[in-house]
Amino acid sequence: MSSKRVAILGSTGSVGTQALEVVKRHPDRLDVVALAAGGNRELLAQQVRDHRPELVSMATDEVAAELRALLGDEAPRIVWGHDGLGEATSGVGADIVLNAVVGAAGLAATYDAVANGIDVALANKESLVIAGELIMKAARAKQVEILPVDSEPNALHQCLRGADVADVRRLVLTASGGPFRGCSAEQLAGVTPAQALEHPTWKMGPRITIDSATLMNKGFEVIETYWLFGLPVEKIDVVVHPQSIVHSLIELVDGSMIAHAGPTDMRLPIQDALSYPERWERAVEPLGLPESGPWTFEPADPERYPALSLARRALEAGGTAPATLNAADEVAVAAFLSGALPFDRIVPLVSEVLDASDVTAMDDLDAVFAADRAARGETQRRLRRTKS
Ligand SMILES: NC(=O)c1ccc[n+]([C@@H]2O[C@H](COP(=O)([O-])OP(=O)(O)OC[C@H]3O[C@@H](n4cnc5c(N)ncnc54)[C@H](OP(=O)(O)O)[C@@H]3O)[C@@H](O)[C@H]2O)c1
Repeated sequence: MSSKRVAILGSTGSVGTQALEVVKRHPDRLDVVALAAGGNRELLAQQVRDHRPELVSMATDEVAAELRALLGDEAPRIVWGHDGLGEATSGVGADIVLNAVVGAAGLAATYDAVANGIDVALANKESLVIAGELIMKAARAKQVEILPVDSEPNALHQCLRGADVADVRRLVLTASGGPFRGCSAEQLAGVTPAQALEHPTWKMGPRITIDSATLMNKGFEVIETYWLFGLPVEKIDVVVHPQSIVHSLIELVDGSMIAHAGPTDMRLPIQDALSYPERWERAVEPLGLPESGPWTFEPADPERYPALSLARRALEAGGTAPATLNAADEVAVAAFLSGALPFDRIVPLVSEVLDASDVTAMDDLDAVFAADRAARGETQRRLRRTKS
C-alpha cells in the first residue's frame, strides 16, 4: 500500500495538532512531507522531530531563523512567508494539502493547491467564504477534490455520499448556539473574552471560538456550504442543536432525512477528509447512544443571531462582499479579544463595514485582496472613532 503524501498547513493550531494525531495512528497510510505554521517555533520543532517532513515554513524569516537554531542538524529545508507557504503547498509533491491556517492568511494556499491540481482537506473555511467562486471554478477545471474538514460541511459531504444532490430538498447545518444561547441582550453586553472563549462543546482556536459565540461561524458555514455543494442558498438552513452530536443533516424530496452523528471530536472529520474515498478504522470512540442523549433541536432565531442574516446578505450581494464580511470580522474579533470592543458590538460593526463598502466583481485574487485590505482599514477607522 502506498502512503499519501500530506502537507499540513497551520500544524501548530487546534486542527493542525489533531491532524498530526490522525497521522500518528496511520503511519503506513500518511506521510507528512511539509509542515507550515505562524510563530510557534517550539511546537513546530517538536513536530519536525516527530514527523521528519522534507520542508517546513514559518510566517517570517525571523522565526524561521529561530526554528533553524532550535533544530540544528535535525533541520529540514526551512522557508518562510508567503512564498514559503506556497512551497509547502505545491513544492513538495504532496498528494493532499490539509489547510488549517486561520483566517484570510490561508486563502492563497488553498488557491495554490487547487491551481496545481492538488486535493485539499479544507479546515480554512475562510478560503471559500472569501473566494468561493474562484476556488470552485479552478477546482472544477483541475478536477481537484475539496474535502471539508469543518465538521458540519464534512457531515453534509458524508450524508450526500448516500444521495443524489438532485433529490435534496434542504441541507441543514447544526449550530450549538455557543456559550450565550439563553442570554439576554443585557447579559451579552457584559461578556468578557474569557467567557466567550469557553465554548460549551468544542475546543478550538480563539477566532473560531468567538465566531461560534456570535454565530458568525455558522454564517460562514452557510457560505462554505453554498460553494461546496452548489445548491441555492434558500436550500441551506441552520438549526440550533446544543449537544453538537448531530453534525448536520440532509432532507430529501420524499421527506427522508439523513443525519451524521458522532462525538464532538475533530479527529473524525480530519481523518475522513484525509482517507476519502476510503474509510479507515476508528478515528474516535463511537458514541454510547443512551449516554449521548437527549438530542434537542431549536430554531435559529434570526433576531437573536443577526450574524446569520448578515452572512446570507453578503452571499446574496456576491462579488467581494463575503471577503469584506470576513475581513471586518477578523479585525472586530481581534479588537474584542484585546478588550477594545464589547462583545455585542462585533456583529453590528461588521454590518456597518459591509454597508459602507463597495462590492466589486470577483475577477481574480487581486480583487479579493483589495476588498480584504479596504475592509480591514474601514473597520480599524471605525474602531478608532469609537475610542476617541
Ligand atoms: N479548531 C476547530 O475545531 C475548527 C473546526 C472547524 C474549522 N476550523 C477552521 O480551521 C482553521 C484553523 O482553526 P484553529 O482553531 O485550528 O486555529 P488556531 O488554533 O488558531 O491555529 C491556527 C494555525 O494557523 C497558523 N498560522 C497563523 N497565521 C499563519 C501564517 N501567516 N502562515 C502560516 N500559518 C499561520 C498558526 O500558527 P502559530 O500558532 O504557529 O502562529 C496555527 O498553526 C480556521 O479556519 C477555522 O475556522 C477549526
